[in-house]
Amino acid sequence: MIHFNPDTRTFNLLLKTSYYAFQVDDADRVVHLGWGPRPDDVTDDDVISGTVAHKTYDTPWSFIAQFRPDEVLTFGDVTSHQVTLKASFPSLPVPLKDGEALHLPIRDLRLRYVDHAIVTDAQPGLAPTHGLPVKDNSPRETLRVRLKDPVQDFFVTLCYRLTPEHDILERWLELENAGQDTVSFEVCYFASLHLPAGTNELTYVSGAWAREFTSHRERLSPGTHIIDSRNLQTGHVTNPIFMVNRPGQAWEESGTVYFGALAYSGAWQIAVEQLPTWDVRVHAGYHSFDFQLDLAPGEKHITPAIVCGVSADGWGGASRRLHAFTHDRVLPRPPQGPRFRPVLYNGWEATYFNLSYEGQAELARKAAEMGVELFCVDDGWFGARRSDHAGLGDWVVRADAFPEGLEQLVREVHRLGMKFGLWVEPEMVNPDSDLYRRHPDWVLHFPGRERTEARHQLILDFGRDEVIEYIFSMLDALVERYSIAFFKWDMNRLATEPGSVVGKAIWRKHVAGVYRIMDRLRAKHPTLDIQSCSGGGGRIDLGILARTDQVWVSDNTDAFDRIGIQEGFSLAYPARCMEAWVTHEHSHITQRTTSLGLRFDVAMRGALGIGSSLNELSDAELAEYASYIAFYKRIRHVIQEGTLYRLERLEEFQASVIEYVQSDGREAVYSEAIHDYPIGSFRPAAVLKGLISSAIYTVTDRHNHEVQRATGYELMTLGLPREMTEHVGYSRTLYLQAI
Ligand code: DGJ
Repeated sequence: MIHFNPDTRTFNLLLKTSYYAFQVDDADRVVHLGWGPRPDDVTDDDVISGTVAHKTYDTPWSFIAQFRPDEVLTFGDVTSHQVTLKASFPSLPVPLKDGEALHLPIRDLRLRYVDHAIVTDAQPGLAPTHGLPVKDNSPRETLRVRLKDPVQDFFVTLCYRLTPEHDILERWLELENAGQDTVSFEVCYFASLHLPAGTNELTYVSGAWAREFTSHRERLSPGTHIIDSRNLQTGHVTNPIFMVNRPGQAWEESGTVYFGALAYSGAWQIAVEQLPTWDVRVHAGYHSFDFQLDLAPGEKHITPAIVCGVSADGWGGASRRLHAFTHDRVLPRPPQGPRFRPVLYNGWEATYFNLSYEGQAELARKAAEMGVELFCVDDGWFGARRSDHAGLGDWVVRADAFPEGLEQLVREVHRLGMKFGLWVEPEMVNPDSDLYRRHPDWVLHFPGRERTEARHQLILDFGRDEVIEYIFSMLDALVERYSIAFFKWDMNRLATEPGSVVGKAIWRKHVAGVYRIMDRLRAKHPTLDIQSCSGGGGRIDLGILARTDQVWVSDNTDAFDRIGIQEGFSLAYPARCMEAWVTHEHSHITQRTTSLGLRFDVAMRGALGIGSSLNELSDAELAEYASYIAFYKRIRHVIQEGTLYRLERLEEFQASVIEYVQSDGREAVYSEAIHDYPIGSFRPAAVLKGLISSAIYTVTDRHNHEVQRATGYELMTLGLPREMTEHVGYSRTLYLQAI
């Protein structure tokens, strides 16, 4: 609900358990008042009037004025700290006495309130255009507050979209050049957030290929801490999510935690700034390195959104709010699509580039027999692709591998009752390819310089409309010809020399191009699913999730490492979209050996996939796989739709215990995985959440054996008894059902 007091010109944005307030001051500046949890006994009439707002900053001669928390901070308007926007205008001539004029370039933007409106159809920049519904399509209110520079004909509209049921605010900016000259931006965040003084403990993730989503928690010193990515995709080294709280005042299920995530898959930056006043600001949006945004006269730019909120129930509460929002309002849910993410088989780690019809058909038969629902052929099915040296860009089926065409395999997969999926890497080209030989000018490069290859490939220039059109037509034709139900859309290199026909704008145009192709494909083929992959988890964010169904979190499928990677992922993203494979006993990446139980228990925490060499498994092992898959199908509605509680985290006990619980509390899944087990140590029994105290629950294992029967009250007070056989790598998954 949005409340406006015309007397004090105060805005109150009221969400389920939180509020956000700001005010237009006497000089027409829009100044932040507060953001945080609301008291428990609050009603919709309880708002911040604005009459008690302090006037601390109304002393322009004092250094205090620079700390004024403007809702949008601009370069030139008092502050000497980080700004939301930095613009350059052409000079205004200042007449001199002798008839000459002084021309000083102007880098100064001041924004003053003009008017505001509440609408229900506002969309941030790069919102999906595929037209597919989400789970909850009910309208939401957006507050639009229009500001103008007093001298320049330049407007900025602050947008706040409310999803009150999940305590989520989406914030973005609309920039409009109503003047006669081009205006350029050097800095453009999607929003600046003002947090209470001392909110300086930051939780974020970092990593690398095969080590994505490693979580960190740090108490920040005064100054600015930046997490960022200078790529054409979201990046591996960190991810655009954060949580911030007062040190010692928050934990997994308690305390006030501010959080945010960017809905954008390109070069991004989140700057957490602690002022000398201890006030904390978070600025999040486009990366300003090599950045260019020019607005010609009459032109508008709408930034993507930062999705943010505040949790009164710790980091767990922050995650749950983001999960529910993503689940209900972001992930596409075509009516014809599957209700739950299907069990997938992907042969990458089984065959790599060594593909043949017979080999794939044999894998498909075994996969179908164990209960797989979607069979995906990975890299190597096209052109001269016998290794990663050649063929990328030539999306025609390899005749040596599939002499009867891919249709033969597609028919076999369908006959076996599975859907057919295909790997593509549409943004790339190997120099050793027909596409590159035809269009050497279609790649990012700087003329006169060597074209640096990574994984023997170059990046197509998505600044060129003809490239985007070509890629769309190619993918569209593949879907039509091979009845493709699923694309694994990969992206395997960093941009080292982003020379494009659109100059520095390529950082934004590339992202817009990827989104455009995906949106067009999905609009034309509403039953097509897409998995976002970028050498593992390099393209995961709320922007890509609005046009994909699931993401590949990491190429590292070692169950031990995966416990931590998935825990980091769960800070922001829901289990439904987390593709997780069971692969071989001996990990190809870490060389570690793990039990089948651990591999399944960890992979079943998300959307289950199988990536093992099925031809190397005995009949007994294949039967074990089948039994786990059958169990997963019995419980996946709880995993993919339930609410997540991290009951014990790796950082506490070197063990991860999680629970998914249905909203009515009648079903839950309990999952335990021990990463390390110091001899002589005892973890506490994990106490469950969200059950019904008076109900009696049966607790069953994958063989449907009842291992426990207890009331919800007992399970939520004493928890489930621990097994005395625990050891490193011990794991179990249990299903709880009220009887
Ligand atoms: C990187 C992906 O993350 C892998 O799963 C696999 O698809 C390879 N690319 C194929 O080249």
